[in-house]
Amino acid sequence: MASTSTSLSLFLFLFLHFSSSFSKTSSLFSSSFLLRSQNPPIDSLRHYRTAFFTQILDHFNFNPQSYQSFQQRYLINDTYWGGAAENAPIFVYTGNEGNIEWFAQNTGFILESAPKFRALVVFIEHRFYGKSIPFGGDEDVANRNSSTLGFLSSTQALADYATLITDFKRNLTAIDSPVVVFGGSYGGMLAAWFRLKYPHVAIGAVASSAPILQFENITSPYSFNNIITQDFKSESQNCYRVIKGSWQQIDMVANQPGGPQLLRNSFKFCKPADSQSIQNWLYTAILYTAMTDYPTPSNFLNPLPAYPVKQMCKAIDDPTTGNDTFAKLYGAANVYYNYSGTATCFDLDDDSDPHDLGDWTWQACTELILPTGANTEDSIFPASTWHYADRVHYCKSLFDVEPRRFWITTHFGGFNIERVLKRFGSNIIFFNGLRDPWSGGGVLKNISSSIIAIVAKEGAHHVDLRFSDSNDPKWLKDVRKQELNIIQDWLSQYYLDLAQY
Ligand SMILES: *[C@@H]1O[C@H](CO)[C@@H](O)[C@H](O)[C@H]1NC(C)=O
Ligand SMILES: *[C@@H]1O[C@H](CO)[C@@H](O)[C@H](O)[C@H]1NC(C)=O
Ligand SMILES: *[C@@H]1O[C@H](CO)[C@@H](O)[C@H](O)[C@H]1NC(C)=O
Ligand SMILES: *[C@@H]1O[C@H](CO)[C@@H](O)[C@H](O)[C@H]1NC(C)=O
Ligand SMILES: *[C@@H]1O[C@H](CO)[C@@H](O)[C@H](O)[C@H]1NC(C)=O
Ligand SMILES: *[C@@H]1O[C@H](CO)[C@@H](O)[C@H](O)[C@H]1NC(C)=O
Ligand SMILES: *[C@@H]1O[C@H](CO)[C@@H](O)[C@H](O)[C@H]1NC(C)=O
Repeated sequence: MASTSTSLSLFLFLFLHFSSSFSKTSSLFSSSFLLRSQNPPIDSLRHYRTAFFTQILDHFNFNPQSYQSFQQRYLINDTYWGGAAENAPIFVYTGNEGNIEWFAQNTGFILESAPKFRALVVFIEHRFYGKSIPFGGDEDVANRNSSTLGFLSSTQALADYATLITDFKRNLTAIDSPVVVFGGSYGGMLAAWFRLKYPHVAIGAVASSAPILQFENITSPYSFNNIITQDFKSESQNCYRVIKGSWQQIDMVANQPGGPQLLRNSFKFCKPADSQSIQNWLYTAILYTAMTDYPTPSNFLNPLPAYPVKQMCKAIDDPTTGNDTFAKLYGAANVYYNYSGTATCFDLDDDSDPHDLGDWTWQACTELILPTGANTEDSIFPASTWHYADRVHYCKSLFDVEPRRFWITTHFGGFNIERVLKRFGSNIIFFNGLRDPWSGGGVLKNISSSIIAIVAKEGAHHVDLRFSDSNDPKWLKDVRKQELNIIQDWLSQYYLDLAQY
């Protein structure tokens, strides 16, 4: 579906302009370099049993053809559930753009909270990802063109969640069990939007690192890379300067005779590589390291040490590599691409997509136009601007569709969010870690007494939702504690209301 020069990413879509002809796309999480061979496939799913639900393909059209259905996957853990008789709660993760098992393995907070609340835990997979593929589960058909991909949208996904949750509760005769939705990244956007659109289905939402404000004319397209720049600068000025200076050097050397071979040797690429692919590859490493700058070792996008940005800068600041920029960058790239030490060479042509994030490109070409990737003169990346027209051009060439530029803010809002939500909506937690480049598009201020922003200066992309670790810093433990207290308040309030009405 996407050409090999396109990288897709998990949470957002990035367009970079390193050189005049170069534009790159990546989704909130995926990128062609995200998960290379060193990353083992998800081991057999722990903690959950798998179920499938016959889901309607088109919730918004009564044309008989729209009554087609597909099998939607969801994961269940009912070990701690207090049961229907108790109206015990149900915690639902609103799946984002990828394999739901992968999100479940990286979102331990929900399961770890379940015993305290005697909650049932459900992770629902987003349509078109993982195993929840319409059109008979045939990915080739589902991804063929806009006729089939047209059924992939955030609005359909939210309707899927409402339909599945309602049916699930009916089956359990747990009609009065309160539902709390959780999500990280795009999943967090969905959780927040779900609470606003389906308040009768979910009593509250935990929206972690959800850039619901990362839209045109709300959040600057410079904010994303500015945050990455800050992350690296905060480690050392030298680290920032070396990376900043490297783009031009790569360009220069790559375009000299023998340059591609020299770069190949310096970086241990499997094959000689051109400047754009190398820059792309480094950009990916820097971006995803910033996003997943967690305080403990992790394996979300790639296996990484604790505080990987610091580790990258340590490689760059290493005095033994003197003035050799490429040796320094090679050391930094090794943190992201070779922490496990198993890479024999780096394959820049690898466009494998082990977490099934590929269809994000469609979403970013239709409604989820998240402007990122512009760079000021001070940026760690070469200066560039963001143009809506580039997206249009890209999407027309890829899918022959034009994005609906105003749809998301028309449908979900975003402009003047404080003024709007202050008197509408309740029970949403917006968590953001300020080291996360997506935090620039997050809700960073309290909106009302129950629409709460929790901001962690040291935090990265939905770090609060990860499984706890004995080495978690105090600030992270405190964030989770605060979130649990707020959820407890929502539930108490709900049970009071239930007893009364
Ligand atoms: C739910 O998770 C707990 C903790 O990992 C595990 O012990 C239990 O077996 C799981 N239950 C199901 C139904 O998978
Ligand atoms: C999509 O592909 C199918 C099968 O090849 C074709 O019938 C349909 O017209 C195509 N739709 C578009 C919009 O290209
Ligand atoms: C509810 O039960 C029906 C009948 O067994 C089943 O077809 C359906 O998939 C169930 N719903 C969910 C969400 O599991
Ligand atoms: C953003 O503002 C510009 C300039 O006013 C306008 O042309 C454009 O349509 C706006 N975009 C959105 C999504 O509101
Ligand atoms: C590094 O570069 C500077 C300026 O170009 C030069 O003065 C210095 O000797 C170089 N150091 C090494 C170790 O090559
Ligand atoms: C990966 O790390 C191992 C162990 O440090 C090293 O031997 C190997 O050369 C590295 N691979 C690449 C491609 O740099
Ligand atoms: C929002 O309010 C809570 C208390 O309800 C407080 O802990 C938190 O720091 C506030 N958030 C911001 C960003 O000020």
